[in-house]
Amino acid sequence: MPTPLIERYREHLPLEDGDPVVTLCEGSTPLVEAPVISERVGARVFLKLEGANPTGSFKDRGMTVAVSRAAGRGAEAVICASTGNTAASAAAYAARAGMRGAVIVPEGKIAIGKLAQALMHGARVIALRGNFDDALALVRELAQKHPIELVNSVNPYRIEGQKTAAFEVIDELGEAPAALAIPVGNAGNITAWWRGFSERDTAPVLYGFQAEGAAPLVKGEPIADPETVASAIRIGNPARWEEAMTAVTSSRGRIAAVSDDQILDAYRLLASREGVFCEPASAAGVAGVRRLVTEGTLDTSATVVCVLTGHGLKDPDAVQAEEGTLTPIAAEIGAIRKAMEL
Ligand code: F0G
Repeated sequence: MPTPLIERYREHLPLEDGDPVVTLCEGSTPLVEAPVISERVGARVFLKLEGANPTGSFKDRGMTVAVSRAAGRGAEAVICASTGNTAASAAAYAARAGMRGAVIVPEGKIAIGKLAQALMHGARVIALRGNFDDALALVRELAQKHPIELVNSVNPYRIEGQKTAAFEVIDELGEAPAALAIPVGNAGNITAWWRGFSERDTAPVLYGFQAEGAAPLVKGEPIADPETVASAIRIGNPARWEEAMTAVTSSRGRIAAVSDDQILDAYRLLASREGVFCEPASAAGVAGVRRLVTEGTLDTSATVVCVLTGHGLKDPDAVQAEEGTLTPIAAEIGAIRKAMEL
């Protein structure tokens, strides 16, 4: 059993004596080489498989710390707005802690696997006629007026937990990579990675990628109606806007946009050639690296880590949109031979 992240990094985390450790043994995720992508981009590329966390996304790193602290403070309920993964993670850790969980999601816009998780973990799931940004504004107001712990990444303990991913990469490579490529939505995770690297006195170049139709940090202004196939990062007004910009500026990196087609190309390439199935939003980092190489702006002598934020199984509809449905054949050997082109 992997050691809970809180036990591994306790002295770097702001928990209080007496806080319970609410854990599902998150963290310690695989860092795997990507030979096909490395060959194509001409740099040494590693993939950090955050989909290997207990609920299938990086959110668990932050949630173990946020929910442990909330429990230590005696909170009885947690709430979040979510494009899906935060909802799944908050629901699981609330269940684990014996707390009530409520999640507010944009109606019809979250992947079915994530919805299934939130429901099965017993959270109150509320579908909002609005987008993520509307939902976040509402839960922030609610949490101010009621004794409910807000566990979006505006919660400082979320960032503290998520910074441990940077520690793991440094420990495994023996040094920080030259560059990190990461999808950006509400901008909590890029903030967390930067904090982790900074606390270890390292400063890789950070490249954050948004989807073209949901790229407020690239446009320099909020987007009222963000749109992208990568539903996890369909966000028009990131809460950690300033911190994300500080992270990329301090690291001499940048935030850039990638198109839905580029995201889906990377999504397919990862699954079909590297054997790694991530959700579409998670492929934005790899799509971005390919874009930087085409532009000639990536130092190809570099070691690059791409953060694959969530597991592909979360979003079966994305697969169906790509692959269509299966047509059954007759149960006889001849038909199988024909289907297999033998
Ligand atoms: N990748 C995935 C799979 C995500 O679920 C998210 C965010 C991100 C990347 C972006 O991370 O917001 O810290 O910049 N998902 C949030 C949610 C918004 O509600 O699950 P970020």
